[in-house]
Amino acid sequence: MANITLFNKTFEPYLPESLIQEKIKELGEIISEEYEGKRPLFIGVLNGSFMFAADLFKQISIEAEICFIKLASYKGTKSTGNVITAIGLDTDIRDRHLILLEDIIDTGKTMNEFIPQLYHQQPASIKMAVLLHKPDATIYPVQIDYCCFSIPDRFVLGYGLDYDGFGRNLKEIYQLKETE
Ligand code: IMP
Ligand code: MG
Repeated sequence: MANITLFNKTFEPYLPESLIQEKIKELGEIISEEYEGKRPLFIGVLNGSFMFAADLFKQISIEAEICFIKLASYKGTKSTGNVITAIGLDTDIRDRHLILLEDIIDTGKTMNEFIPQLYHQQPASIKMAVLLHKPDATIYPVQIDYCCFSIPDRFVLGYGLDYDGFGRNLKEIYQLKETE
């Protein structure tokens, strides 16, 4: 694997395709076992999670559904602060077992704000599956139930994750070069 240059920044190979796929296969097997008979609803958070969601869902061997949402943040009132809303959540989630799929938990802000809102619609349970977690960067409490890779606090690119919109198509994950 060679370095990638994007907007004058250099990214080095970090997680190879085979390792990513291996971890996802393991996770698919664990979830399939734990959710047997529960007909879980996977919710992929766009855009970043589309590759992870697709590859993980292929490894699910039980009856399950999947849908995708996009999160939008807008300024609420003084008391509500910023409000995050889900665009495209048209499935009834009441009494459903939800598994949220995210590309990466960085500060944790997005999921920390969004998950409590999902509970208002009274699902049976909510669990969170992430491809990547940067524990050193996470300052908002988020419960991560399944995680493929814990990584250092350095910017990553590829396999759905972008830098200014580009790089999502890479099959591997790259890391910003230390000196940049
Ligand atoms: P959080 O709310 O700080 O946890 O941010 C989560 C979102 O920020 C992710 O869903 C990504 O879209 C984006 N993000 C955080 N870190 C990275 C990174 O290293 N590369 C690409 N996107 C990132
Ligand atoms: Mg994202």
